[in-house]
Amino acid sequence: MIRLKYYIFLPIIITVVAVFSVEIPAVITGTCSNCHTMHNSQNGEAVVSYVYGSETTDAKNYLLVGTCLGCHAQDGFSMVAKVNGVDTPQVYHKDATGDLAGGNFAYILGTKGSGASDAKGHNVIDFGNTEDTLSSPPGHHDPDGIGINITCAGIAGCHGVRKSGGGIYGNHHRNVDGRLTTADQAYNSYRFLTGVKGLEDADWEKTKSVSDHNEYFGAITPMTYSGNCNICHNPQGIKPANNTMSGFCGTCHRYFHVTDEIGGTSSPFTRHPTDVVLPGSGEYSGYNGGGNPYSLVARVARTAVPAVPGDTAYPGTDVVMCLSCHAAHATDNADMMRWNYKSTTLSTAISGCNICHTAKN
Ligand code: HEC
Ligand code: HEC
Ligand code: HEC
Ligand code: HEC
Ligand code: HEC
Ligand code: HEC
Repeated sequence: MIRLKYYIFLPIIITVVAVFSVEIPAVITGTCSNCHTMHNSQNGEAVVSYVYGSETTDAKNYLLVGTCLGCHAQDGFSMVAKVNGVDTPQVYHKDATGDLAGGNFAYILGTKGSGASDAKGHNVIDFGNTEDTLSSPPGHHDPDGIGINITCAGIAGCHGVRKSGGGIYGNHHRNVDGRLTTADQAYNSYRFLTGVKGLEDADWEKTKSVSDHNEYFGAITPMTYSGNCNICHNPQGIKPANNTMSGFCGTCHRYFHVTDEIGGTSSPFTRHPTDVVLPGSGEYSGYNGGGNPYSLVARVARTAVPAVPGDTAYPGTDVVMCLSCHAAHATDNADMMRWNYKSTTLSTAISGCNICHTAKN
């Protein structure tokens, strides 16, 4: 009987889930005092306690108990930490078991990994260590604009609304999780990256496998610039017109993405392409071995955001993206690579390239 009931209700459940799975809101729930303090005072003492490094415990904007880094960069031993009991993803930590999807800013400062290096990631100035080698984003259209002073959020940041006076405000409470196919506001975009579509893994890839991971959105041709400012500039701030992850990176690293600079949309290319299809023939058809299992190292992007993570890559359909080779925050490798391309051991250096370029060794 129990089984019978199950079978009767299953189609209904599936229908309900299918109808509502377009956008699953994970709006913040729980006691306001987990994250807010009304006066920053309790028994005469400051309540603000989630601060990074030398930040003070003075009262914070939006009456919060901590700063961005206080909540997200605790330098502890877990990649997802409890902040007043709330699971909070960490971007700076010493968890020996791994890192979340973006990587870990701790590699830049050397508090985790093989030693400090500015080349290991984006030197977000909030961490107090500015980039010493580069003076602007490589491949940028306006070297004296953004400079190297990138921040978590705002005009010179990646998350939230990227215009003067923009930022994260109003997004945590409206945050939509899961499959994000609208992406016209920060809160309904992938990880608050305004304009970017994708499928967010529920635990930010704390646990990951070939069938449990984020899915990235890609296109079959990169953006074309030809003087068209609107591929990045928009009344809502700077965002990629094509909604892809590579287009997003290209808003600051334009030359590495647009067709005008990479040599068009087909071979021969002049810069490694992104948002081009992995050919369905030749060496690419053997992507990552028989059956083309999805690789967590040389990841592919999808041209339609799937409802669930896929365990297979499809040469002929899926595309190469910036995050096929790089992580977004920082890794333990030079140039934020997902593998050690600078290694003097050839097999290590090409280990990621090989997953797509299966005939090169
Ligand atoms: C898990 C942490 C968390 C909890 C719990 C929480 N907030 Fe917030 N809230 C934030 C953060 C972070 C911000 C600032 C960043 C932003 O706006 O995205 C914020 C911003 C706000 C804002 C200004 C922006 C907006 O969206 O209106 C208001 C008002 C607010 N919270 C009220 C509340 C109330 C009322 C409660 C309890 C019912 C609550 N919050 C519970 C984290 C939290
Ligand atoms: C009071 C603690 C707190 C503060 C302060 C705070 N956050 Fe968060 N943040 C959270 C929590 C908790 C989550 C997870 C909530 C969820 O998944 O819905 C989160 C989620 C996020 C996410 C991931 C959203 C997603 O789609 O999964 C981003 C990006 C983010 N925060 C950026 C920021 C930035 C940038 C700031 C500073 C401007 C900031 N946060 C300040 C607690 C905080
Ligand atoms: C808001 C602008 C901005 C965006 C968006 C952006 N970057 Fe950057 N990137 C910079 C700046 C500024 C630098 C140079 C300063 C630094 O490395 O800290 C840089 C440096 C880099 C470097 C070289 C690191 C080094 O120190 O040698 C790589 C690799 C990189 N970015 C990849 C990416 C990828 C991949 C994305 C998309 C996930 C991306 N960037 C998105 C601004 C940006
Ligand atoms: C590839 C993406 C991209 C394109 C295309 C682009 N911009 Fe920008 N632009 C940016 C980014 C990112 C910033 C913010 C950081 C900075 O100041 O460099 C910016 C900043 C600016 C600023 C400084 C004011 C501000 O909002 O910070 C001006 C002015 C500007 N752009 C004008 C233009 C014009 C005019 C064009 C077309 C000829 C253009 N941009 C094309 C990405 C782009
Ligand atoms: C096929 C792998 C691959 C892809 C895809 C890729 N990169 Fe890179 N990137 C590298 C490697 C390897 C380096 C190290 C320098 C080199 O060998 O040219 C690098 C270096 C960089 C640098 C540093 C350049 C400097 O002057 O120091 C930036 C910035 C960068 N990449 C951004 C991007 C962005 C943005 C995208 C997507 C539009 C992207 N990369 C796509 C492999 C890749
Ligand atoms: C996620 C898959 C992927 C990864 C990883 C990857 N590539 Fe590629 N690469 C491609 C695709 C797709 C093309 C374009 C093929 C085409 O359309 O002919 C390409 C093009 C190239 C080209 C230009 C070929 C031409 O005909 O102009 C070179 C060279 C190259 N890749 C080298 C590398 C190196 C070196 C690495 C490692 C740092 C690497 N690739 C990693 C997918 C990948």
